[in-house]
Amino acid sequence: MTVDYDVKPVLKWAGGKRQLVPDIREFYKNLSPNKYVEPFFGGGAVYFDILNTLGLEHKEKAIINDVNQDLIDMCKNIKSSPKELIYLCNALEKDYKKYDYYYIREKFNGVDGEKNKIDRYEGIERSAALIVINRTCFNGLYRVNSKGLFNVPKGSYKNPTIIDEENLYKLSNLLPKTENIRCQEFDEIQDIEKGDLVYFDPPYHPLNETSSFTSYSGAFGREEQIRLRDYFQELNQKGVHVILSNSSAPFIKEIYSENRIQEVFCGRSINSKSDKRGKIPEYLVLGDTI
Ligand SMILES: C[S@@+](CC[C@H](N)C(=O)[O-])C[C@H]1O[C@@H](n2cnc3c(N)ncnc32)[C@H](O)[C@@H]1O
Repeated sequence: MTVDYDVKPVLKWAGGKRQLVPDIREFYKNLSPNKYVEPFFGGGAVYFDILNTLGLEHKEKAIINDVNQDLIDMCKNIKSSPKELIYLCNALEKDYKKYDYYYIREKFNGVDGEKNKIDRYEGIERSAALIVINRTCFNGLYRVNSKGLFNVPKGSYKNPTIIDEENLYKLSNLLPKTENIRCQEFDEIQDIEKGDLVYFDPPYHPLNETSSFTSYSGAFGREEQIRLRDYFQELNQKGVHVILSNSSAPFIKEIYSENRIQEVFCGRSINSKSDKRGKIPEYLVLGDTI
């Protein structure tokens, strides 16, 4: 059977790694890990490339994880019930056209425009609603406020493609079994052993740290970056193959001063003038076995 690995992410997700995959691949293409673990899954671009590069058999043992419950529930539903999910997306697309974006967003949040509690989408219908609002909101962002309510305004798409059915079936085929699609903190995955490969793609540390950022708790701040560094070193010492992405902020260079750091360049331009287009470097921190 030929397998088509050229899958597109279902959701638009900040920090998607599609453009950087060829650079990251250089560091895992010759490894033969026991299993693959991705603790900050997001849209999962690297996971799909791992299957393509290292072999489909990795799907059997791979573990993917993200702290975002709605994202993980959606991945589980794509795995277990793609047909039902497609059916519900198509039904919600009709509601979107009839009642508008904000109707779906309010039912996703379980709060109406007057801040009254209403029944919210649950179960697989909630995953379908996440897909619909993500495909139709402004810039395809995922953002919640301090109360956990999705607060991105409507985007200006004339005819948005909500669901690519063929792509969803491909994803369903390539995702790991549902028990290995997890929703935990990045350092709570119990079963990581020597010889495994772990790729960390955390929220990036900002290049320009402002005082408001440092005092903002709840984000992935300095403390979380240090907790992640300690976990990275613990796995590294255990003989796990570890690779980590982050911004090229001086703080990141400082906390990973013991490790090899490779600069990679993504497509983003820092200078709007076309004659001065520059590229922002990012860091790939490499464990001792890479
Ligand atoms: C930069 S994104 C990952 C992008 C992904 N590699 C891709 O290609 O789309 C970071 C992810 O980390 C997740 N996250 C944030 N804090 C976390 C934590 N403490 N533990 C696990 N995941 C976390 C976020 O929900 C988000 O999906």
